[in-house]
Amino acid sequence: MRVIIDGAPEDERTASISVFDWALIRGFGVFEVVRSYRGSLFRLERHLDRLASSAAALDIAMPNRIGVARDMNRVATACGEGQVRVILTGGGRDPSVAAVPRTVVMWEPLPVVPDRVRVLPVVAPWHPATDSSGYPGVKWTSYAPNMVSTDRARRLGYDDALLVTPEGVVLEGPTFTFAWVHRGRVETPSLDLGILPSITREVVIECCGRLALDVDEGRHPLDRVLAAEEVFALSTVKEVVPVEQIGETRIPGGLIAGRLAAAFAAVVREETQGPRLEPVA
Ligand SMILES: Cc1ncc(COP(=O)(O)O)c(C=O)c1O
Repeated sequence: MRVIIDGAPEDERTASISVFDWALIRGFGVFEVVRSYRGSLFRLERHLDRLASSAAALDIAMPNRIGVARDMNRVATACGEGQVRVILTGGGRDPSVAAVPRTVVMWEPLPVVPDRVRVLPVVAPWHPATDSSGYPGVKWTSYAPNMVSTDRARRLGYDDALLVTPEGVVLEGPTFTFAWVHRGRVETPSLDLGILPSITREVVIECCGRLALDVDEGRHPLDRVLAAEEVFALSTVKEVVPVEQIGETRIPGGLIAGRLAAAFAAVVREETQGPRLEPVA
């Protein structure tokens, strides 16, 4: 069972939503992606909290939380290792079309994550940090500008983009977040920039506590990251991956990435069933 829509298991070859659904025609929907470690969902409750606040931002009704968690667990249990996506669609939002909002839960395989990533700085004028949109940290299906920057970076030979404001303040990646080491302290962009409140970032901050590493959250210029001792990309599917190059600049790399990745794996082991088969990053 890989797909459940509105609580009902669907054949993955025929599972569908209405073409009138605003999620399709206007990018009006919200979503979460949760890592399944051998069928056990990591930090599911935090992902559901974020789903609820994204839904509230778009005035999409949050379906019964216990039902969503049950369906996500059913898919995870059936599929094992991978990622479980939940999408709340906006529905038709027009009385003349019968397209009700849908709750789609689906399994997806893990993407291949390189051991080290190379990123291209891209100015992101569409980012909530750069305007007064009032939609900071919403995980919605309107990711087109982010994905255009990923594509652009890939065409130029990089793995992905590093989004910065027009003033050069470091924000996040199109689908991940950043942290780096400056004079032995871990730094990461602060949430008041309007970046997504990454759950991996949250876990990594906890890991820094376990490793007695100081953490500073703030507004930092790109130059500071270019001069960092180590830089990491963080996300549900990437976990902790060292960044080896930003634009033309090589990042030296050091021991903290490995320590954080090990601490992260320990948290996963503690909170999910059994040891992992293999590390992702
Ligand atoms: C824009 C953006 N930033 C950061 C992240 C990382 O968030 P998380 O660690 O919760 O996966 C994501 C995840 O998809 C994202 O889309």
